[in-house]
Amino acid sequence: MHLTKGEERILGGEEGETRRRAMELLVALGDISKAEGLVPIVSAQVAGASFKTISEAGVEFLEELSADAKVTVKSTLNPLGMDREGWRDLGIDEEFAEMQMRILRAYDKMGIELTCTCTPYFVGNRPDSNEHIAWAESSAVVFANSVLGARTNKEGGPSALAAAIIGKTPNCGLQIEENRQPKVEVRVGFEPSFDDFSILGYVIGKSVGQKIPLITGISPAEDEHKAIGAAMAASGAVSMYRFAKDREECSQFDTIEETFSVEREQLNEAREHLNSSDSKPDIVTLGCPHLSVSEMKWIAWFLHGRQPRKDFQTWFCVSRKIANQCPNETAVMRQFGKIACDTCMVVAPIEKLSSSVATDSSKAAVYLPTLCNQKVLFRSRKKLLEMISK
Ligand code: F3S
Repeated sequence: MHLTKGEERILGGEEGETRRRAMELLVALGDISKAEGLVPIVSAQVAGASFKTISEAGVEFLEELSADAKVTVKSTLNPLGMDREGWRDLGIDEEFAEMQMRILRAYDKMGIELTCTCTPYFVGNRPDSNEHIAWAESSAVVFANSVLGARTNKEGGPSALAAAIIGKTPNCGLQIEENRQPKVEVRVGFEPSFDDFSILGYVIGKSVGQKIPLITGISPAEDEHKAIGAAMAASGAVSMYRFAKDREECSQFDTIEETFSVEREQLNEAREHLNSSDSKPDIVTLGCPHLSVSEMKWIAWFLHGRQPRKDFQTWFCVSRKIANQCPNETAVMRQFGKIACDTCMVVAPIEKLSSSVATDSSKAAVYLPTLCNQKVLFRSRKKLLEMISK
C-alpha cells in the first residue's frame, strides 16, 4: 500500500507508540484488502463499548490505550451494556456497572463523544453523500451507505478506533465508487406496512448474502430504512443496498446480474421461523435499532389514554439525546416501562435478568437466542404495545 511521508513517519513511531500501533493496524488491513492507500475520513463510529462484549481484558486494553490515545476526527460510540444513569432500575449489578463506567471513562479520555447509540446519524454524526467514514455497527453502516450515501466498510471495533485515532481508513471496498453498484435486483411484490420492513430486510439479507441488492417496488421512509437495513445486515452480510420505486429509477443501474421477487408469504414464513416462544415474555423490548424522534412520538401517541398492564416489564431502547428531546413522550412511555438509554436488549446482560424477550426487530430476534440465550416472541410493534397496555 502506498503511504505518504506523513503516514510513513507515524508508522515509524515518530508520533508516539499509540499512533504507530493504530497505523500498523490500518496498513495491515489495507494490505489484506489490496487498498492503494489510505483515505481521510470525516467521522468514526466506535464499537466495543459494552462490558458484556469486551470483558475484563478489553477494559484493561482501553485504559492502557487511553493514557495517550486521542481521536482526531468526530467520533461517536456504540451502546453500552447499561443505562449509565438508570442502571440499577434495569437490574444491572454493581460489579458490571463499575466495569462499564471504566470503559466509558476510557473512551471519554480519548475524546470520543459518549453518544452510546447505534443510531449516530440521529445524534449529530450524520455525514454527507460521498464523504468517507469508518463506522463499526452493522446497522449504522448500512444506513450510512444506503440512505446517506456516505462511504464506509463494516469496520470492527479495533479498526474503527484506529481510524478515529489516525483520521484515515484504507481506501478499499465500499469506499470506492465501482464497488457500490448493485448486482441483484429484489422485486417486492406487495405494499409493505411499517411492521413489514424489518422482516422484509431479514428475508432479503438471507437471500443476497454479501451482494448489494437493488430493492425495487418500495419507497421507504427513514425509520423504515433503519429497520430494513439493520435486518439485512443481521441475516446476511449486507453493508449497502440501493432502492428504486419504479422501473424508470431502476434503469439507472446496469450492473444487475440476477433478479428475484419477495412475496408476502415469505415474510409470514420468516416471522414463524424467528418466533421461538408463544408464552408470556419476561421483558418486552422496543428500539432495535434505537428509536427515532418520530418513533417515540408514534409510540407515545399509541399509548396515550391507555392503562399499563403491570405484569409486563418493558424496555424502550433509545439514545439519551433523543430521549432528552422527547420529554412529553418519555413521560407517557414511563408509565408503561423503562426508558433504557445508552443500551439495548442485546448488548445489556439480559441473560441475567430474563429467559424470554419480545421484540419487533428481526435483528434483535436473530441475536437474542445466539448471544443472549433468550427465547423470542416476535411480534409487530402494535401487538407489543397492545401487550403492555389495555
Ligand atoms: Fe442497536 Fe442493539 Fe439493535 S446495538 S441495532 S439496538 S442490537
